[in-house]
Amino acid sequence: MNLIFFGPPGGGKGTQARLLQARRGFVQISTGDILREAIAVGTSLGREAQRYMDKGELVPDVVMIGIVEERLRRPDTAAGFVLDGFPRTLPQAAALEEMLGRLGRRLDRVVDFQVSEATLVRRLSGRRVCQAAGHIYHVEFNPPRQPGVCDIDGSPLYQREDDRPETVRRRMEVYRAQTAPVLEHYRARSVYTVLDAEGAVEEVSTRLEAALGL
Ligand code: AP5
Repeated sequence: MNLIFFGPPGGGKGTQARLLQARRGFVQISTGDILREAIAVGTSLGREAQRYMDKGELVPDVVMIGIVEERLRRPDTAAGFVLDGFPRTLPQAAALEEMLGRLGRRLDRVVDFQVSEATLVRRLSGRRVCQAAGHIYHVEFNPPRQPGVCDIDGSPLYQREDDRPETVRRRMEVYRAQTAPVLEHYRARSVYTVLDAEGAVEEVSTRLEAALGL
């Protein structure tokens, strides 16, 4: 299955994409994770992306489209992929359609994660991420066994720079202005699927798998 996970910052896209990857083998393609890796390694892409990400702004379309096409060309995506965080603008959505056509791939579902703003704020303020591989935790809802340490690889957990309250506010504005309109592109099509993404991680996972017919 080839999927797009669509939704606001903190909606739970990354958490559910990682679960689907572990349980069903669909490869998670998180554009946010790709950019954070580039920042950590200190590449020129990372230096450029950081300027936008720290302010809660979107990285330019031309950069993101190139990254996703390069990733989709890798053979591990043949068994199915989850695009997590892409497309985020109308030009990205148009480029994706063109790219999938060229690669001979089809889109099976666009899952729209629906969550209240109050839940988003709580999820983002308590999020912690592992430095080595980006495993996702929450201090209250999904705490690691040992505070500040990843259960899976033992690396330290950190709080994302863009999870500070003023940057979260800007990311929400950017989502409403530039990303929400992309939904109109998909809403009328049969691939469009609404997901009630409130509730505990496993509850949402059960609902998601049912919605996907898994
Ligand atoms: P990105 O990393 O994609 O951030 P985002 O879309 O804002 O999404 P998040 O990662 O914040 O949230 P999520 O929905 O994955 O939630 P999560 O599962 O972590 O992008 C970051 C930046 O990169 C952008 O601002 C932009 O600058 C740039 N960028 C990326 N893609 C781009 C593109 N295509 N174009 C241009 N720029 C781009 O969950 C959040 C928290 O809640 C966690 O702590 C988790 O443990 C917890 N949680 C999750 N589910 C539940 C649940 N059901 N119950 C309780 N807690 C839960």
